[in-house]
Amino acid sequence: MKASNQVVEKLNKVLSDLQVVYQNQRTLHWLVKGGDFYMLHNLYEKYYTETAEEVDEVAERILMLGGVPYHQFSEYIENAQVKPVVEVPKGKESLKLAVNDYEALLASYREVLELAGENNDEGTNALFSDLISSTEKKLWMLKSTLA
Ligand SMILES: [Fe+2]
Repeated sequence: MKASNQVVEKLNKVLSDLQVVYQNQRTLHWLVKGGDFYMLHNLYEKYYTETAEEVDEVAERILMLGGVPYHQFSEYIENAQVKPVVEVPKGKESLKLAVNDYEALLASYREVLELAGENNDEGTNALFSDLISSTEKKLWMLKSTLA
C-alpha cells in the first residue's frame, strides 16, 4: 500500500467517527432535558456546528491526497469506532457522552498525527495539530464543568 493510501484510509475512519459524533451532538441538542436545558442545548449546538466544519476539513484533506471520502451513512456506520447515542441522560450527566466522544476522537487524531509524521505529510499534520488542541480545550472545559 502506498504511504498516502494509509493516511487516506485512516482519515476515512476519522471521518466516519466525526460523522457519528456530529449526529450524537445533534441527538444531545434535541433530547437533553433538565434544569440546565438552555445552557446544554446551546452548547451542543456550538459543538455540532464545529464538528460539521471538521467533517468538511477532513473530507477535503482526503480529496487533496487523491482519495475519495466516504459519503454514505452505511460507510460511516461500518467504519466508525464511536457508537451512536441511543439515550440521553438528564442535564449535566449528558456531558459525559460528549466527553467520551471527544476522547475517542482525540485518540484517533493522535494516531493520524503519528502516521502523517511517518509519511512526511505536513498538510495533514498541521490540520490534526489544530484539531488536537481544539479538542483538548473542549475536554478541559467539559471536565471542569463536571468536576
Ligand atoms: Fe436547534
